[in-house]
Amino acid sequence: MNNLGYNSKVFLAPMAGITDKPMRSLVASFGEGVIISEMVAVNALQWKNPKTYKIADVRDEKYPVIVQLVGGDAKLFGDAVKLVEQLGAHAIDINMGCPVKKIVNNQSGSYLMKDLKLASQIIDEAIKSTKLKVSVKFRAGWDKQHINAVEFAKMCEEHGASHITIHGRTRSEFYSGAADWNIIRQVKENVKIPVIGNGDITSPEIAQERINQTGVDGIMIARGILGAPWLIAQTHNFLEKGILPIQPSIQEIKQTLLKHIQNLIDYYGENMALQISRKYVCWYCKAMRDAKRFRETYMHITEYPKAYDAINRYFDACATPSGE
Ligand SMILES: Cc1cc2nc3c(=O)[nH]c(=O)nc-3n(C[C@H](O)[C@H](O)[C@H](O)COP(=O)(O)O)c2cc1C
Repeated sequence: MNNLGYNSKVFLAPMAGITDKPMRSLVASFGEGVIISEMVAVNALQWKNPKTYKIADVRDEKYPVIVQLVGGDAKLFGDAVKLVEQLGAHAIDINMGCPVKKIVNNQSGSYLMKDLKLASQIIDEAIKSTKLKVSVKFRAGWDKQHINAVEFAKMCEEHGASHITIHGRTRSEFYSGAADWNIIRQVKENVKIPVIGNGDITSPEIAQERINQTGVDGIMIARGILGAPWLIAQTHNFLEKGILPIQPSIQEIKQTLLKHIQNLIDYYGENMALQISRKYVCWYCKAMRDAKRFRETYMHITEYPKAYDAINRYFDACATPSGE
């Protein structure tokens, strides 16, 4: 167990609409790594929104899941943490980094980087209402003129956060440009609680470089797992055991895609699963031959047996050297 309290220092990032149960169980099937849910809105939990309940319910998952909460009303966090604790959360993370307008306008996500008082009240309310560990994820600051990650990190530490995660971009950058790992290093140098760095990690080697460069206790990967759900386990194996990553074969990628679709069907039912699977198909085959043509065909498929056949035909053809 490391100083973060887990067997791994590699964290799957929370991604709304992506790190749902089908994705989490797929990522976990490849090996070790720490798993986080998509963000769960505390006000929707309060209204007992069934869709939100479903997202927050991690009771039947076989690995520990950190459930991420997002909201801007400190009073709602007490009930929210109690509820997600009942729904199987292993620990709680609070989203103070989401840049989306709808979230920010609700005094939540990265808005909280401008309002440290409200941010600290939210942390206090969460911590006093649960026995679970409470961590916070935030950004470098609101914009380039207001980089306050170090001050924000100290506030989180003073108020009892178990660890913090910093995405090295400002709110106004959204996802553009390169993440600033210098600010992540500065945060690490200024607090005693464990620090996780996040931003632009797309390979185990880059993860190792960022750890060497900043001394962070863990790293978190988001977009790098799209079409590559094995990346979390691969990075863990590289960092912990020095095992060099081997890129999966086309047949292995096909099996992973089919397993992902099966997980989606088990969770959402066939209709919705096939619609959701369209974005994943694009990611799994982005570097493959004739991918554009295949994606266009796949977009119109509405039944699983047809999807299964089309995937098999396409991947099997790609696995055969062209000209044969
Ligand atoms: C589609 C998408 C959804 C995201 N949803 C969340 C979320 O629910 N909570 C959160 O804290 N961050 C969310 N993020 C931000 C990521 O967790 C991460 O901080 C960011 O993508 C930078 O990491 P990366 O460079 O590895 O992608 C999301 C990012 C993407 C691309």
